[in-house]
Amino acid sequence: MRRGPKKTIKAYGVRAFLSPHPEIRKLKQMHSPSAHGNKVWKSTWLLIDYLNRKGLSDGARVMEVGCGWGLAAIYCAKKHGAEVTAIDGDAKILPYLRLHAEINEVEITALKKDYTRLRVKDFEQVDVLIGADICFWDTLVDPLRKLILRALRAGVQQVLISDPGRSPFEQLGNYFINRRNGRVLDWTAQRPRRSQGRILKIAQDSA
Ligand SMILES: C[S@@+](CC[C@H](N)C(=O)[O-])C[C@H]1O[C@@H](n2cnc3c(N)ncnc32)[C@H](O)[C@@H]1O
Repeated sequence: MRRGPKKTIKAYGVRAFLSPHPEIRKLKQMHSPSAHGNKVWKSTWLLIDYLNRKGLSDGARVMEVGCGWGLAAIYCAKKHGAEVTAIDGDAKILPYLRLHAEINEVEITALKKDYTRLRVKDFEQVDVLIGADICFWDTLVDPLRKLILRALRAGVQQVLISDPGRSPFEQLGNYFINRRNGRVLDWTAQRPRRSQGRILKIAQDSA
């Protein structure tokens, strides 16, 4: 018997509420995120799948930028014991992020901050910088390129940015290919449903 639309999704040990879930409906009446922060985007599952297959050092210090509902950050905290900071420029995102941290029983630091304003010192306590579906406009290519360069200058060991493969992301990827050990990988995740896309990976030691 059909019981109406699916309200939750679970994969890789983390849980997300979908738009029909009463908690999300309640939040949507009070906070309407702008800049596409209205759901968990598929690129998040690509990034989680990558980390699930390749691993993450226990206790790594992870920063997620443009985190939206923060599932990738939450996965790092829950499955790898990472110390996580999740940043989004939209204050209206934070209640969704906090709700997801709560239902997944993890503690993360959630900050409202424009990632273009992060400076070298902001990355000094960060080992891994991650982002999912954050390079979706041409105007974001240059700020993100500068952000990644600042992170590498601060000593961040690994940068992972996932994307469906939009043209601004490809421009960003092309800059780092053959520079700073950058590679752009084709990636497919099978869970929670099949998604395909690309992952920009930059590792200080070409690991
Ligand atoms: C397409 S959504 C992706 C959200 C999440 N990473 C995911 O995969 O579900 C893009 C996110 O980037 C955030 N964002 C856009 N520009 C930003 C900026 N300059 N600084 C911080 N966050 C930003 C938006 O608020 C939104 O949450």
